[in-house]
Amino acid sequence: MYRTNNCGELKISDVGKTITLAGWVQKIRNKGFLIWIDLRDRYGITQLIINSEKSSKKVIDSVKDIGREFVIQVEGEVIKREAINENIPTGEIEILVTEINILNSSNVPPFTIENETDGGEELRMKYRYLDLRRPALKDNIIFRNELTFQVRKYLKEEGFIDVETPYLIKSTPEGARDFVVPSRINPGEFYALPQSPQTFKQLLMVSGFDKYVQIVKCFRDEDLRADRQPEFTQIDCEMSFVNQEDILNTFEGLVKNLFKVCIGASLEKFDRISYADAMELYGSDKPDTRFGMKFLNLSEKAKGSGFKIFDSSESIYGFTIENGECFSRKEIDYYTDWVKRPQIGALGLIWIKHNQDGSVKSSVDKFFNEEQLKSMTGSKAGDLTFIISGDKKKTLTQLGSLRIHVGEKLGLRDKNKFNALWVTDFPMFEWDEEAKRYHAMHHPFTSPVENTIGEDPGSTLANAYDLVINGNEIGGGSIRIHDQKLQEEVFSILGFSKKEAFDQFGFLLEAFTYGAPPHGGIAFGLDRLAAVMKGEESIRDYIAFPKNNSGRDVMIDSPSSIDTVSYTHLTLPTSDLV
Ligand code: AMO
Repeated sequence: MYRTNNCGELKISDVGKTITLAGWVQKIRNKGFLIWIDLRDRYGITQLIINSEKSSKKVIDSVKDIGREFVIQVEGEVIKREAINENIPTGEIEILVTEINILNSSNVPPFTIENETDGGEELRMKYRYLDLRRPALKDNIIFRNELTFQVRKYLKEEGFIDVETPYLIKSTPEGARDFVVPSRINPGEFYALPQSPQTFKQLLMVSGFDKYVQIVKCFRDEDLRADRQPEFTQIDCEMSFVNQEDILNTFEGLVKNLFKVCIGASLEKFDRISYADAMELYGSDKPDTRFGMKFLNLSEKAKGSGFKIFDSSESIYGFTIENGECFSRKEIDYYTDWVKRPQIGALGLIWIKHNQDGSVKSSVDKFFNEEQLKSMTGSKAGDLTFIISGDKKKTLTQLGSLRIHVGEKLGLRDKNKFNALWVTDFPMFEWDEEAKRYHAMHHPFTSPVENTIGEDPGSTLANAYDLVINGNEIGGGSIRIHDQKLQEEVFSILGFSKKEAFDQFGFLLEAFTYGAPPHGGIAFGLDRLAAVMKGEESIRDYIAFPKNNSGRDVMIDSPSSIDTVSYTHLTLPTSDLV
C-alpha cells in the first residue's frame, strides 16, 4: 500500500497514529538536528519532521538525497506540532518520520511550485504539468470539475439527455473560420471541426429528443483574447416546443443553481435589456452592470453653440462619474490619451466638472456657459462628465470602453459581486460594408421575431438572447427557424443562392420538411463561466492544457509541420486549405 492517508486530512484527533503518506516534496528546511519537509499531494500539505535524536540513521541519510519535487513515501507517527500553522487544515500536526522511501527523483523545477511563483507565463505553459501542481491552478481545474458535475446533475433532473455529436463534420457558419481535417480515404476532401454542434442539436429536436445537452469541445480559428481559445467547451442545450420565455426561465434556473451550489452566491432575478438599449446606455452588447455611469445622449442638447466638433458630429454621448470632481487634470489627461490610442480611436475627450461650490469648469468653456453645461449634463455638485462625439456606432463603443476602464480604475468591478442579465432583441442581420452583404448577427438558424422578415432586413429583430455576467458574454442562443421556406429566405438574404444553400445545408432544409417541431436553445461558454464565477476574465487558467496567445501549445510544440511521407493525403494544393 502506497499510503494510508492523503496529505490534506490528518488532524489533531489522529495524534498517536502510525500512518504512511506519499507525495511531492514542496520545501525542505534543514536546521541540522531538525529537518522539516512539506509534503504535498492533490489534497493538501502535511509537514514531516526528521529529528536527529528520534529518527534512524537510515532516514537521516536518505533525506540528504532528497530535493524539491522528489516523490517520496514516508511512514511515521502523527504528533502535535509546536508552532501551529492556522493557514492549512493539517496545521496542528506533523509526522515524525520513521521510514523514507524515494519513489522518484526530480530535476530542479524551472520555477517555484507555489501560488506565488517566479515562473513567467511562457515558461509555465511549457511545463504546464508542473504549473498544474500549483494549488491555485489545481483548484481551478477541480472547480471546473465540480461545475460540470453540477451542470449535468441539474439538467438531468430537468429531463435533458446527453447526446454526443460528431467532431468530423462540415462547416457550420458561426462566424469564425473552421479548422479543417483532410480525409485520407476521400482524397482532396476535408472535414471541418465543429464551431458548435448547432445543426446536429437541431436535428436531434427533429428526431424528437425534446431536451438535449452536451458538454462539448468547439473549435474556432479566430484571433485569440483573454476570453477566447481556439478550442473551448460549451454547455450546449436545445429544447423543443419552447418559446424565448421558456428558455430564459429554464437556464436562469440552471445558472442560479450553479452559483448557489458551486460558490454559495445567490443571484438576483436576471435583468433584461434589449440590444438597442444596451448599446445606447452602456455602449456594449455585454454591459457590466455592477456599476452605473449610464450614458447620456447629448446629441440634441450639445449642438448649436458654435463648437465645431459637436456641431459636425452625428452623435454626442457622455457619462457622469459621481464624485469625479476629485479627478486631477493629470488623471483627466490620462483618460484623454487613453481614448485616443489606436485601439480605441477617439479623436478626443471632452470633460465637464461640476464643483462642490456650484461652479462648473470644462474643456469647452469657450463655447458654453455654466448654466448651459449644467442643463446639458443634468449633473450635480461633485460630478465629472466625460463626453465623446462622432459617428454614432463608434462613439458608443469608444465611450463604452472608457466606461469600463474608469470603472476598473475606480474599483467598481467588484469580484465578489455578480450581475447577470439577458440581452435580447438583437438585430437579425448586420450589414458588412466591406463585403457589401448581410451577416447573421447570431447565426443563420435564428428565427426573426414574429417569424417574419420585414421590408428592410437591417431592421428585423432576431429571437435571440445572450447571457451576460459582469460584462462577459457567458452564453448565447435563439429560437430557431423550423420552417423550410423561412430558412431559405434567410439564406437568400445572407447571399446564398438556392443551390448554395442546399449544397451546404440541404440536410437541415430537408429535415424541416419531415415534421420539425418549434425549438430553440442556448450554449454557454464553460471556460468563461468558470472564470467569471471565480472573479476572473482570463479563461486560460480554467483549462488544463490551453493554447498561448498565438494559438500554440508550447508544451507539445503544436501546431507543427508534419512528415508528409506518412501523410501522403496531405500533399494537396494549399489553395484548398484556405
Ligand atoms: P455562440 O457563438 O454565442 O453561440 O457561443 C456560445 C458561447 O460560447 C462561448 N465562446 C467561447 N468561449 C471561449 N473561446 C471562444 N473562442 C468562444 N467562442 C464562443 C461564449 C459564447 O457565449 N451555436 C450557438 C449557440 C446557440 O445558438 O444555441 C453558439 O455557438 O461564452
